[in-house]
Amino acid sequence: MRLSHAVFEKNVIILIIGILVTVSVGGLVQLVPLFTMEQTIEKVEGVRPYSPLELAGRNIYIREGCYTCHSQMVRPFRDEAERYGHYSLAAESMYDHPFQWGSKRTGPDLARVGGKYSNDWHVAHLISPRSVVPESIMPPYAFLEQKDLA
Ligand code: HEC
Repeated sequence: MRLSHAVFEKNVIILIIGILVTVSVGGLVQLVPLFTMEQTIEKVEGVRPYSPLELAGRNIYIREGCYTCHSQMVRPFRDEAERYGHYSLAAESMYDHPFQWGSKRTGPDLARVGGKYSNDWHVAHLISPRSVVPESIMPPYAFLEQKDLA
């Protein structure tokens, strides 16, 4: 009997065996190399756990739904790297639970926004985005100034 494709198409048991063999080989090819590697995440200098104040800020970011307009992951494409800087590495979000990579960008990516502006700029921007970026459609968050942190 010649092993043509028709054999698989006509007999469901042979088809299932064929699928199992194919999926197993594919799975092993993906899994086995990982067992031989010491580290799958490269180390990045400067990555450390968040301070309590940073965590409180992160919680506000999540609570206010900033992630519905902003991502925190520079994709590994040339246009992204030219606009935002080096693409994000896995280790950079190792302390983010839940991560804030995001999939929606009404506003720009924020992964590398640290250091881009002064603290005063951020305060003014959060109170009224249009005071510093006249064409901004970001909502104002002036109420945060009156609220306690927690
Ligand atoms: C409705 C969508 C929307 C939401 C929600 C939103 N933003 Fe924005 N954000 C924008 C847009 C659009 C811009 C670009 C215009 C500007 O700079 O104001 C922006 C810009 C920014 C920038 C400056 C980025 C840069 O590279 O210039 C920061 C920082 C920022 N947002 C932080 C926040 C934070 C923090 C929150 C939550 C408290 C938030 N945003 C919520 C739309 C949004």
